[in-house]
Amino acid sequence: MIIREEKEADRLAIGALNRRTFGGDYEAQLIDQLRAAHLIVASLVALDGNEVIGHLLFSSLPVEIDGRDVNAVALAPMAVSPDRQRQGIGSKLVTEGLALLRKKQVEAVIVLGHTAYYPRFGFSPLLTQKLASPFRGMGEFMALELVVGSLAGQKGSVKYPEAFGLAKGHPI
Ligand SMILES: CC(C)(COP(=O)(O)OP(=O)(O)OC[C@H]1O[C@@H](n2cnc3c(N)ncnc32)[C@H](O)[C@@H]1OP(=O)(O)O)[C@@H](O)C(=O)NCCC(=O)NCCS
Repeated sequence: MIIREEKEADRLAIGALNRRTFGGDYEAQLIDQLRAAHLIVASLVALDGNEVIGHLLFSSLPVEIDGRDVNAVALAPMAVSPDRQRQGIGSKLVTEGLALLRKKQVEAVIVLGHTAYYPRFGFSPLLTQKLASPFRGMGEFMALELVVGSLAGQKGSVKYPEAFGLAKGHPI
């Protein structure tokens, strides 16, 4: 299995993997819309031979704290092919993704996800306590600081781009 950044030729397979894994169109459409809006910061695929068996996307996410802009990204969506889950592929995608974000000088990562999964990589709900978000209460809202102290402050907010389908109240 290898992990690398997506190439244009992977895009159809990434959409198909997300549809298969989530059983719907929302995530595949989200990826397409973020791509069209030029908001993708990193898109990683896990490959077994030529087959895309995992995918992880990071996209630009405006975060402001005490009047300061933080260079933050959203982690979403992440998909591992149903027949390949629980083999460490998701963990490898996250670990390599975070290393890539460090190289890109990203300061913080925000995720709305499973508390049983993301804390093992250092994500914590404590880091989002001061952040107002339209998705708060729709899943566990967690963050990870790649630059220590980047999310420190008294009051802040997260502004999800339109692609996340806020109007539909979709919890991702
Ligand atoms: C979540 C997901 C990406 C994890 O990928 P993976 O390759 O299966 O994960 P790993 O093998 O690295 O890690 C397995 C661990 O994840 C945990 N895990 C997997 N899916 C989970 C879920 N839905 N909720 C909570 N924990 C989950 C397992 O309990 C396991 O923990 P353990 O090692 O302590 O037993 C994958 O299961 C998936 O695609 N799920 C469906 C889509 C989804 O929910 N995506 C995330 C939201 S955007």
